This record gives sequence, C-alpha cells and structure tokens, in this order.
Amino acid sequence: MSAVIVVHGGAWAIPNDLAEASVDGVKASAREGFAVLQKNGTALDAVESAVRALEDNTVFNAGHGATLNTDGEVEMDALIMDGKTLACGAVSSVKNIANPVSLARAVMEKTAHVMLTDSGANQFAQTIGVVAVPTDKLVTSYEMKEWEKHKNYVTGVMEDFNTLWPHDTVGAVAVDYAGNVACATSTGGIRNKMVGRVGDSSTVGCGGYADNFSGAVSCTGHGESILKVTLARLILSHVEQGKSVEEASRISLQYMGERVRGAGGVIIVTPMAQWASTFTTERMAWAAVEEDVLYYGLEPHEKQREHLS
Ligand code: GLY
Repeated sequence: MSAVIVVHGGAWAIPNDLAEASVDGVKASAREGFAVLQKNGTALDAVESAVRALEDNTVFNAGHGATLNTDGEVEMDALIMDGKTLACGAVSSVKNIANPVSLARAVMEKTAHVMLTDSGANQFAQTIGVVAVPTDKLVTSYEMKEWEKHKNYVTGVMEDFNTLWPHDTVGAVAVDYAGNVACATSTGGIRNKMVGRVGDSSTVGCGGYADNFSGAVSCTGHGESILKVTLARLILSHVEQGKSVEEASRISLQYMGERVRGAGGVIIVTPMAQWASTFTTERMAWAAVEEDVLYYGLEPHEKQREHLS
C-alpha cells in the first residue's frame, strides 16, 4: 500500500510575482505532510500538518495572508474530514485564528457538532486554549493594497471571476499506509465578500469530502459555484461510478463551468493511491509526494518531478 499526499495553494490567475513563492510553498507543504505519513502518521494528521504550513505562509489566502471582507476584517473558513469514520469538523467566519484547520479538527474531536461559526467558534477556541492572534498579524501589506484596489466584489464576479478577482484557498488530501484517506481545506474566502459570507471551504461535500469507499477531495475556486454543484461529492460520485480520478475531476469542473459559469481546481486521492490535480483557472500551484518523488506544477497540464533527497 502506497502513501500519497497532494496539496494545492488555490486556483486563480496567480500573477508572475507570486508564482515562484506559490510553487515553493506548496512543495514545502507537501514535504511536511509526507513526512508525517512516513512516520506512520495518519492521513488526518498529514493533511492538518500540510494545511497548517500553507496557513502559516503569507503567500496563500488562509491563516496568515487571508483576504479582507468589506469591513476590512479577516473571516476564515476551514474543514477537515476523516475518510475512515466520516468524522468531520468545520469552522466558518472565524476571526483572529492563525490555524483554522486545527480549530476545525478540535470541533470534530472535542464537540458533538460538525460546524461552529463566527463568535461561537471563537468562544470555543478560547475555551480550549487557542491563542487569539490580532487581525493585523494575519493581514499582509500585499492584501491591504489589493483590498483598497477592489471595492466591488459582486460586479467583479459577474464580469469575470477568473481573471479580475484574485481568489484562492489551500487544501490537502492524503492516503496513509493503512489505506485511510482524509482531506482538509482552509481559506480567507473572497476579497471584499459581505460580512458573514461563507463559501464552500467549510461546507462538507462542497469544499472537501473524504470517504474510504471512494477517496478524498479538496476544492478551490469560486465558492458560490462550488456550493451550487457540491463539487467534492460530485467528483467522488463519478469515481464511485468507475471513472478515473483525472476523468472524474475534469468532467465535474467542466460541468461547473457550463452549468454555473464557475472556475476552480481540485485535488483527489483514492485509498488505492491514485491521485490527480486538475483546474480550469489560469493557474493553480499544487504539489504531491508519492514514495520518493515530489511532483508539482502551476500551469495547465504542467507536471514537474524531482526525487526527494
Ligand atoms: N473557495 C473559497 C471561497 O469561495 O470562499
């Protein structure tokens, strides 16, 4: 049985000045997640560790580096799911949290609920001893400048989501040596979103899903479109019907484009360690580790490889 991790840093029109840092960031995250698997860690531990690394990297829109809403606040969404038991945890619209993915895991493991939102999620964080981080520590000067530039989210999305409206999310999927799969997704959401807007990333079956009977998926892209087509579950339903991971990802993203004009990207792994990374935006930084090889890419159909030292 092989262990594999795949991560993404968000599907969007990544500008050239962020390209190298984005690729370096996903490569480092995939290495970190794979190191957990190599030590016989679970897929759940591996995806949490990989996503934490992306949340800590200010290049990505999650944790440190998250985008701002219309009030100039950071509101983040995250989800984690264990394919062995279908246990899942999520947080939405949380503020002042460095690693929403770990808070989502705490919701899964320490409460009787699946999702906590807004002030309730923050209260829970406080009760379990998660240290609050001031908003200005999460916001980068890059984000402040971009936020000032883009004041009208709704018009922008209608005009052209992919090219005009920078947007991304981070995520990871993994299968461990026991054949268990897991997924995790985390985001600051769409820049200039309405206060209280929740996208796909914390919604089970949309921004991610994991089930040992089919596989694990993490999604990125236009949240409202992903929600409308329940993208993660849609992909896995194609896998259940016998489609390959590449085909299931491709036809589901194509359907989302045709049906609701949404662009995005997905990563998937199955319990048999088949994996794929697919997107319909201009670019998506992704990386995967399978045994001793690191794969990565940014442009459509790009798949570079290097041996792990
Ligand atoms: N895909 C992340 C979001 O739309 O919030």
